[in-house]
Amino acid sequence: MASEIAELVRERARRLGPLPFDEVIELALYDPRHGFYSSGGEAGRGGDFLTSPEVGPLFGAVLARALDDWWRDLGEPDPYVVVEAGAGAGTLARHVLDAGPACSPALRYVLVERSERLRGIQQGRLPMEPARQVLGPAVVTDPDEGPHAVPGIGPLVTSLADLPQRPFVGAVVANELLDNLPFALLEKTALGWSEVRVGAQLGEVLVPTSPELERRAQSLAPGAWVGARIPLQDAAAEWLRSALAVVERGVVVAFDYADDTMSMADRPWTEWVRTYRRHGRGGHPLEHLGEQDITCDIAVDQLTAVRPVVSYPTQTEFLRDHGLASMVDEARGAWQERAHIGDLEALRHRSRLTEADALTDPEGLGAFKVLQWEVRG
Ligand SMILES: C[S@@+](CC[C@H](N)C(=O)[O-])C[C@H]1O[C@@H](n2cnc3c(N)ncnc32)[C@H](O)[C@@H]1O
Repeated sequence: MASEIAELVRERARRLGPLPFDEVIELALYDPRHGFYSSGGEAGRGGDFLTSPEVGPLFGAVLARALDDWWRDLGEPDPYVVVEAGAGAGTLARHVLDAGPACSPALRYVLVERSERLRGIQQGRLPMEPARQVLGPAVVTDPDEGPHAVPGIGPLVTSLADLPQRPFVGAVVANELLDNLPFALLEKTALGWSEVRVGAQLGEVLVPTSPELERRAQSLAPGAWVGARIPLQDAAAEWLRSALAVVERGVVVAFDYADDTMSMADRPWTEWVRTYRRHGRGGHPLEHLGEQDITCDIAVDQLTAVRPVVSYPTQTEFLRDHGLASMVDEARGAWQERAHIGDLEALRHRSRLTEADALTDPEGLGAFKVLQWEVRG
């Protein structure tokens, strides 16, 4: 049986002509009723794919240390706002808060998640407060001093559907969000660049690009061979602009699989556009519309064109920079001491070692890039 999304795409393509790839992804992932993320798709062992936070609590524990490092660099502001964008069911937030970072009394942790269903799950897992209390206007405690927030009342947690509107001092963090934002797909033909669109039969239709798109594609992948494909990641670039605009002083940090456009043009497109379904790879992105995740490697050059990154380590390097080695040493020592007892605590230490291996796997999560932007204010 064809999915509701397939029907929707067919109907729109019959009416409007072949649909841009990003419009189809938007429907497939985020249609409010039948999109993948609205109707049951999610990260996690019981979900469709495993992300770093879903490996276990270690990723969040290291991120908590990174949040402390950034907090200290910023002069220990209170409030210190941390926005986690694309927060899913709230697993990473839970782990960060459980790790008890030093910045906790100043912390305002804001989960931003587009899916109403996933925001509902977060409510049951985290002690949520109304956004207007967490991000609301500062209170006046002394008329001579002017308004300021009450210090030391964190951590306060809230959840939103979109990035906050009011600028703040702190961090925006996104794990595997950007790869999930809709992208257009272009193909080099003998006559120039064409856009890959989706026809009423749910097949690919090549449509010549506008002169503007042709110019952009040509400058992103000048030497591309006929048959090469590239993504245009305007939604990711737009998200980055919004994130940078809302940080008054602080950092924007994105963890994701990444490459650059020219290198993607040299690789088969099915390597950098991937689909996932119940912990396996899915089919062609136009199959099972709404029933499988559709992701794309991040084109770093398209994002650094918005603003250059200050650093660009692998996930392994990032985790080591923020204390992974000492946490692993501690777990190894404790495991060796308690292995003969084999109790829950011993197993907890052993599982921390297994998690560290998974998070730094050079063939997997360890090879992710951590793109870091700074806003100096
Ligand atoms: C691949 S999941 C990652 C979830 C979580 N960060 C993790 O690492 O397990 C991407 C999430 O981003 C959400 N999302 C997509 N676009 C978004 C946007 N513009 N703002 C907030 N969340 C978004 C999706 O609904 C989905 O829950």
